[in-house]
Amino acid sequence: MQVVKTIEELRSIVKWWRGEGHSVGLVPTMGYLHEGHKSLIVKAVSENDRVVVSDFVNPTQFGVNEDLSTYPRDIDRDAALCEEAGADVVFHPEPEEMYFPDSCTFVDMDHLTKGLCGKTRPTHFKGVCTVVSKLFNIVTPDRAYFGEKDAQQLAVIRRMVRDMNFNITIAGCPIVREEDGLAMSSRNTYLSPAERKAALILHKSLMLGEEMLQAGERDAGKVKNAIVEHMKTERLARIDYVELVDADSLELVKTITGPILAAVAVYIGKTRLIDNFSFNPGQEKRE
Ligand code: PAF
Repeated sequence: MQVVKTIEELRSIVKWWRGEGHSVGLVPTMGYLHEGHKSLIVKAVSENDRVVVSDFVNPTQFGVNEDLSTYPRDIDRDAALCEEAGADVVFHPEPEEMYFPDSCTFVDMDHLTKGLCGKTRPTHFKGVCTVVSKLFNIVTPDRAYFGEKDAQQLAVIRRMVRDMNFNITIAGCPIVREEDGLAMSSRNTYLSPAERKAALILHKSLMLGEEMLQAGERDAGKVKNAIVEHMKTERLARIDYVELVDADSLELVKTITGPILAAVAVYIGKTRLIDNFSFNPGQEKRE
């Protein structure tokens, strides 16, 4: 497995693979990889002849007061995990390789990026869409793999691929959780032991909401209130949002008649964590 730092080198490797008739999968990441990322890479390896993992902390998706400078980084550990998972190349560019000093072209999206995380992070998805478009143009993958934990990001990328006619299949992969239910995230490393315990409230509150839906509740307001009230029982938790939205348009729903996403963002101390579940009435889980 190779760690590649320049666009030129990566392009020539992909060109060589294409000449050999190989299919190519891309797993975009910001590094500090965990088992959740590994599951994406393993899936990509099982579905493509060659796999590129990008490992780039993308500055344009961080707001001014966010954690760009402190975001955890460890390329040696990441490279070892990628190799173990069967990736062929880790693309690890410097910011100067990805962005010209006078870059002024961005990919932006209306509607889907305005609610949920877009409310507190108004420039975030512009940065995500821009860097993912650039990675798509650099790697030209057949398939690209994203985690369902970032459910809004996944919906936004699917829409961008449709709207911009990228000839790429987007695969969403299930959330990977710690044994106690906390969704895996590179940001979990920010949590103190007390905060780590408190962070379980996200999953627990969501499970409560899911149980209500499984039991037949279809009033989104009631489910949301139950999640909010349970979340409030944890004194270290400060809710950013709790919403039930249409799974495709991400618009708020009142009555649940089709596929929805229940999504939360919660500050545990200074760390903002997200989690979610999907629900489709008529396709409830059966015991
Ligand atoms: O989900 C992430 O890690 C990032 O938002 C992504 C998709 C790699 C773009 O920087």
